Amino acid sequence: MIFAAILAGGIGTRMGLDKPKQFEIVGDKPILVHSIDKFLKVDEIDKIIVSSPKDYIETTEKLVEDYFNKNERIVIIEGGETRNGTILKSIEYVKAHYDDADPILITHDAPRIFVSPELIKKSITNVEAHDAASPVIPAIDVIFESKEEGKLTDIPLRKNLVHSQTPQSFKINRFIDLYSTLNEEEINKLDEAMMLFFLRDGDISLFEGEPANFKITRNIDLIIAEAYLTENKD
Ligand code: CTP
Repeated sequence: MIFAAILAGGIGTRMGLDKPKQFEIVGDKPILVHSIDKFLKVDEIDKIIVSSPKDYIETTEKLVEDYFNKNERIVIIEGGETRNGTILKSIEYVKAHYDDADPILITHDAPRIFVSPELIKKSITNVEAHDAASPVIPAIDVIFESKEEGKLTDIPLRKNLVHSQTPQSFKINRFIDLYSTLNEEEINKLDEAMMLFFLRDGDISLFEGEPANFKITRNIDLIIAEAYLTENKD
């Protein structure tokens, strides 16, 4: 079976709004609704697990009710303390409710509202022959490493650098097996699922992402998102 985890357990501190950014309206609907809409278009997905910060569960439930009329493909869970904690809770949900032999989880950042259903499908097809799969796009800027504030410590070659995006997919059983071998220090390093597969030499497939699939993170991204929606009205 194929599950999607729309990660919306964060509070969007960098945005500085009076509510988590996933509830901010862009175009005609909240950010979270844009993302859920994209996943509902992919028939291969059996269940869409939407996470929420603890204090916003009711807000999320109301939003799903208003926009999706209690769609049975959508379930809401409480997110974790960290992004990785939210991924773990999504996995726990799958394991607690389904007895599938080889379930796949597609994780997606709710504020990447311009993900295309085609990219979601590409993530599914790419994970089939691998442990995990992630879209990437080439780095545009030269990226400096600065391990100490104000000091340049390395300049990795730009041609070797790519930005990771979501939807990232992985085989849940493989994730659980590898996770059980991590020590405390390694667990604290995890922010995204690919880190686990990387730390344990898992087989990760990288495939081409989409430039429009950026993550709404700062206030300027809201302005860019509004402009993009205006240009691409369907
Ligand atoms: N996320 C999550 N659970 C957490 C923290 C983050 O599900 N405990 C999600 C966010 O909701 C977001 C995604 O992970 O969809 C990517 O994180 P980011 O853009 O950093 O979102 P926030 O953590 O909300 O923002 P900020 O870092 O500015 O606080």
